[in-house]
Amino acid sequence: MPTCALAHETDWTGWRRATRGYVLARIEPADLSWTMGRGGDAVPETAGTFTLSRALVSLAAQAFQAREAERFGLLYTLVWRAHHGGLDLGDAGDLDLRIARRWALAVRADAHRMRTMVRFAQVTVDDQPHFLGWYEPDHFVLEANTRFMARRDPPGRFTIVTPDGTAHRDQDGLRFGAGLKHPGDDDTLLAWWDAHRDALLRDAHAGGGLPEAEELDEVPRPLDRPALGPVVLAERQTSATRELAREARGCERCALHRPATQTVFGEGPRDARVLFIGEQPGDQEDLIGRPFVGPAGQLLDEALEEVGIDRRRIMISNAVKHFKFNARGRRRIHQSPSPGEIDICRFWLDAERAAANPALLVLLGGSAGRAVLGRPVTVTRERGRPFSLPDGGTAFLTVHPSYLLRQPDEASRAREYAAFVRDLRAVKELINHGSE
Ligand code: URA
Repeated sequence: MPTCALAHETDWTGWRRATRGYVLARIEPADLSWTMGRGGDAVPETAGTFTLSRALVSLAAQAFQAREAERFGLLYTLVWRAHHGGLDLGDAGDLDLRIARRWALAVRADAHRMRTMVRFAQVTVDDQPHFLGWYEPDHFVLEANTRFMARRDPPGRFTIVTPDGTAHRDQDGLRFGAGLKHPGDDDTLLAWWDAHRDALLRDAHAGGGLPEAEELDEVPRPLDRPALGPVVLAERQTSATRELAREARGCERCALHRPATQTVFGEGPRDARVLFIGEQPGDQEDLIGRPFVGPAGQLLDEALEEVGIDRRRIMISNAVKHFKFNARGRRRIHQSPSPGEIDICRFWLDAERAAANPALLVLLGGSAGRAVLGRPVTVTRERGRPFSLPDGGTAFLTVHPSYLLRQPDEASRAREYAAFVRDLRAVKELINHGSE
């Protein structure tokens, strides 16, 4: 059985070359093994060529970054099947495709999280400001994602450190080097940077590139926005409810799962003391797989930053975990979940609450209010003050950020935004001074 050795985890060029060679040499997926490093067999130099659909290449490029040992073989199988006419990308029941799509969705969510969650400390390199950030990715997203981030305008000089490697961008362009296990805290990261900086920059290499995976449809968080809180979080920035999220992926408790792209579960660190609850994922959240990343989420981020609440330290979820919409042509128009759908989905919200055990729940709007209090709420009347929950803990009701987006004019929008910020300041007080 031939063995194909790739140079590193994101050796896309090597994988494509090998895949082409072995498919043309008619090596069946079951007769080929994949490994990393040295010791592989020479790739057959078979004459000929074949083309793949852009959709398949783009899916493969995303799924290729998943931290899954089986991915090289599974993606080879997809290409093999496509070449032999046995792959229908529209077949929702195809198991190979379903696995690849699940990996691709997870990669996308992780890439987006990296873009919005990395906080930078300003350091100096060659008398120039340079931004140093830390991220611990779930998947191998550093390279493709940093190429995307590096296209920002105006260009900034930065280094992003991860356990898998570092990405540097300076006057010499974008390069990649060795990584660092979790540094522990900002001081350790900065000391490591001081000690290794010259060697890291000197030994950095151009990387391989995954151009098919570098989409350009989102704006990353600006480098020089002041870092709120530490650059390195002591707790890993991943969902405290990872197992639950995995379980919820296949949820079919109500009909909303059918048209939705994926389940959007809560996210936040293990030690979050506060859980923000919205209504349901919107269009962007459904595609990206993270809560509050679309327009309402960006407004929430802005208000959180204004009051000094670090989004990386709170947990954010929704009353309902699937996007409910009406399709009008290519547009998907948000529809509020029914009380019945909220009640059914409370199973997951309760599970998240039990797993994370936050002392404070911030209810964003009426659906979140209903999900937690089990009754209809009048947000305008009940907002802005804490109240005790029968099962312990405190809840705080305020408006949903999309209520601000729906305001008819600038003046009312500014007024409502200011009231929302006032509510969030009260939330910050509760976080700082205890809500137990
Ligand atoms: N609105 C919500 O309630 N939740 C999201 O995640 C996004 C928009």
